[in-house]
Amino acid sequence: MASTSDRRLTVLGVAGSLRAGSLNKALLRAAVELSPKNLEIRVYERLGDIPLYNADVEAKGDPEPVAAFKSAIASADALLIVTPEYNYGIPGPLKNAIDWASRPPNKSVLRDKPAAIMGASSGGIGTARAQLSLRQSFVFTNTLVLPQPEVLVARATDKFDERGKLKDESTGKFVRQLLEALAEWTLRVGRER
Ligand SMILES: Cc1cc2nc3c(=O)[nH]c(=O)nc-3n(C[C@H](O)[C@H](O)[C@H](O)COP(=O)(O)O)c2cc1C
Repeated sequence: MASTSDRRLTVLGVAGSLRAGSLNKALLRAAVELSPKNLEIRVYERLGDIPLYNADVEAKGDPEPVAAFKSAIASADALLIVTPEYNYGIPGPLKNAIDWASRPPNKSVLRDKPAAIMGASSGGIGTARAQLSLRQSFVFTNTLVLPQPEVLVARATDKFDERGKLKDESTGKFVRQLLEALAEWTLRVGRER
């Protein structure tokens, strides 16, 4: 019989930046490489296709990019959100996608979904304020955010090479610890799909 630690987990990785040279996309790519063997991260590539939330549009049915995003969340065991920080908060495209995914309230795909958050910024605080703000939104959606460890990648421009590959060893260790904790957390609090 397979033990729980043998269970393979799929994690939907969402980077909250749209730009090609994004530090947060680079951090998510590093996470894919650093994943423990029982955890597969699928990178969500279509954040930029999601239209601005509009309840009138929603009332006619979810637009295809929204339906695709919700379905990707539903079919993953857990989420890994890699957020930039814009003006001390969550960037608009990411918040907008979360707003769509949070519907309908109380039975959304975010409900009871295990999740981990990390983020990279060029500044010195490494997205701490954006991460706290995201955690606050996830209280309302009842998304089960891993409490610790926190991965705040400050001065991130120095930590990736010109091709966007993580070159800072201690950041890599923190990312790996986060992924191991997410795997354990998902087995503990997540539902079998
Ligand atoms: C509109 C805007 C607001 C920003 N506000 C913050 C901020 O509040 N804190 C911070 O550390 N960095 C801030 N930055 C700098 C971002 O950390 C930096 O641009 C980072 O590279 C964005 O993430 P990305 O590389 O994944 O696109 C801001 C950047 C932009 C474009």
